[in-house]
Amino acid sequence: MPTSGKDNRSSRPGLILAVETSCDETSVAVVENGTIIRSNVVSSQINTHKRYGGVVPEIASRKHVESVTLILEEAVREAGVRLTDLSAVAVTQGPGLVGSLLVGVVAAKALACALQIPLIGVHHIAGHIYANQLVQELEYPLVALVVSGGHTELVHVPSPGVFRIIGQTRDDAAGEAYDKVARAMGLPYPGGPHVDRLAHEADEGVPMPRVWLEPDSYDFSFSGLKSAVLAVLNQAKMRGDVVHPVRISKGFQDSVVEVLVEKAIRASKEFGAKQLLLAGGVAANRGLREALAARCQRESLPLLVPPLSLCTDNAAMIAAAAFLKWERGELSPLDLKAEPLLSLEDWSVKEPLV
Ligand code: KG4
Ligand code: ZN
Repeated sequence: MPTSGKDNRSSRPGLILAVETSCDETSVAVVENGTIIRSNVVSSQINTHKRYGGVVPEIASRKHVESVTLILEEAVREAGVRLTDLSAVAVTQGPGLVGSLLVGVVAAKALACALQIPLIGVHHIAGHIYANQLVQELEYPLVALVVSGGHTELVHVPSPGVFRIIGQTRDDAAGEAYDKVARAMGLPYPGGPHVDRLAHEADEGVPMPRVWLEPDSYDFSFSGLKSAVLAVLNQAKMRGDVVHPVRISKGFQDSVVEVLVEKAIRASKEFGAKQLLLAGGVAANRGLREALAARCQRESLPLLVPPLSLCTDNAAMIAAAAFLKWERGELSPLDLKAEPLLSLEDWSVKEPLV
């Protein structure tokens, strides 16, 4: 299958429209040259999924179908561009929920086909990492700590668009652990922000284990910590003791943050990183931001953290990552498939920029 549309790099500035529907946010953005946000419209389904205590995949895809066209029209209107001004259409190809991804992929293909412009499939985590490029110029090599509801990864980025995973979670993602612990304490979904808030109200935390794994490992494991929290809750219940969600939240958060920070700093040193990037929904965590900022200052390591609106799922980050491919003429075919398990390393750019 040939790539979609013509390679139009010489005739236009890089004005990329991107669609993101990998989980429970429908988002469309228009971004210029991978750095200037012309629009970034995000419609969250959180209120729908809240009553179920988590994202229900079938409902998520139906909601994307309902809203994607409206969000697309709004993003184009807000950006003040004509459809004919666009250089390419980008879309999250994976990873994510297959039904949700499919809605975005079909919408993006239809637009690219109608406008006869290139289509670019994007890796969701590359998007989270390149959200930082919407805020500040990146310097390589860099290390990115990606922490979201579905991912916990340490990524070495030796040059633009090249991704090497050096560590990842062996069980729960950091955000997933936050959400499960919050649920066990009766807090609403998504629980991360609530645990973060409670943790800041406590002077002292309930002691919790740190899971370092093998001494040289950059991998993470959070399910043991989650079980430790459940054990504290169960014991208190059995003994009829008062439960202290505030102290439990602090104990849990201190453990997660210490392990994330130490491994990210060690990786940055080993790979000679010029910058440490924080990415993903859990990057909104105040405890993590504060601890990383303090450690990075001590190590004289520049820390990049996107604003909250660019930490959680949004299409501007997808457009920023797509620009890497557009610049190199690495376009996707019109038979692009949604890939729920797409590999980040395989998505790396093929050619250095000449
Ligand atoms: O990146 P994201 O929007 O979606 C995924 O791709 O997963 O991340 C959502 C995750 C949820 O698990 C949510 O609880 C967590 O990020 N989160 C937080 C905070 N804000 C959002 N976790 C800890 N502290 C926060 N302040
Ligand atoms: Zn995400």
